Amino acid sequence: MEFETNHEIIVRARRNANGAVWDYLAGGSETETSMRRNRQALDSIAIRPRVLRDVSEIDLSTKILGFPSALPLFLAPMASLQIVTPAGAMAVDEAAEQKGLINILSGHTQPSLEEIAVNSLHPKFFQIYVRGDRRWIEDLLGRVKENQYKALAVTVDTAVYSNRERQMMAGWSPPTRRNAEGREYLAGLSWEIWDQIAKIWDGPMILKGVGTPEDAVMGVEHGAAAIYVSNHGGRQLDHDRGSISVLANIVAAVEGRAEVFVDGGFTRGTDIVKAIALGATAVGIGKMQAWALAAGGQAALENCLDILKDELTIAMGLMGVTSLDQLDKSYLSKARPVGPSHEMSAFPHIPGGRLT
Ligand SMILES: Cc1cc2nc3c(=O)[nH]c(=O)nc-3n(C[C@H](O)[C@H](O)[C@H](O)COP(=O)(O)O)c2cc1C
Repeated sequence: MEFETNHEIIVRARRNANGAVWDYLAGGSETETSMRRNRQALDSIAIRPRVLRDVSEIDLSTKILGFPSALPLFLAPMASLQIVTPAGAMAVDEAAEQKGLINILSGHTQPSLEEIAVNSLHPKFFQIYVRGDRRWIEDLLGRVKENQYKALAVTVDTAVYSNRERQMMAGWSPPTRRNAEGREYLAGLSWEIWDQIAKIWDGPMILKGVGTPEDAVMGVEHGAAAIYVSNHGGRQLDHDRGSISVLANIVAAVEGRAEVFVDGGFTRGTDIVKAIALGATAVGIGKMQAWALAAGGQAALENCLDILKDELTIAMGLMGVTSLDQLDKSYLSKARPVGPSHEMSAFPHIPGGRLT
């Protein structure tokens, strides 16, 4: 392994990515309150360890929508990865396959879903932004199905484009933003259209971008196999709540009728155990994934995932837990963050904010 810590991966990524790309990978919308609250909410939970339990064997494996996963995490969908590393989304898919993890391929990244599927044997999911009419959806989902993607994530927290001010200050926007085609369909998305998609897809669906128990329950009633709690890493609605702070109520409202995924600020093994203890099936890794790619493509991403695995093993061993199903709320308590929360607050030797 080239890197011992994810600290070093981020330092390298910041050196490699040019200013505008770094602004794209690390920023949130407007005041960045939602993004910072993602970390603040994680930083506001402490762990209550138990001792004198034999932890010589620790099992980190789980199932996500019935598919085996070596760890309780998956690679969250990320657009425009081709500007971060030449192999783009291929690097993520291959790293996921190597590590026995699920990749949710973004519908907005390159290479194409067919090119990725051709050499990829492991189970993987696909994410769509609905940017066209029924015919457009049928065409796209036909391709997704033909290429054996196992579940479909529909992202629903992007009805309107947000102002991501780091990018605006850099005078730059990623390829997906430059292409305004089909924005009206994002704005017009509704439960009716979700139902149409469900009929066309006829397989497991993930409702990505849920922040309330009300919408989680509606998702279950509309057949979602997974409710994906997310505020898009704080890149969409500003002044939202931190993701993990809404997780427990959503898990309670779902009542086991669907799996619950969560993302937003997860960069450490200790972050992940908190979500599992609150009832999540798995955690999505967003920015940390992109930072690793910027540090060194597929190899650095695999390195980063190994570090997360190591951190998870350490956390569980020191908590007195040997498998994920033993984790529950009794292992957590409230705490005051030890310092200001921001996108780098899990890495105390790296400042947050824009590189100027
Ligand atoms: C650079 C970047 C690109 C993203 N692209 C997508 C995308 O194409 N589709 C999507 O549903 N979410 C996208 N997201 C949101 C992530 O899937 C995820 O919800 C978020 O990054 C989680 O928060 P975190 O970055 O704090 O881990 C993107 C996030 C980032 C940082």
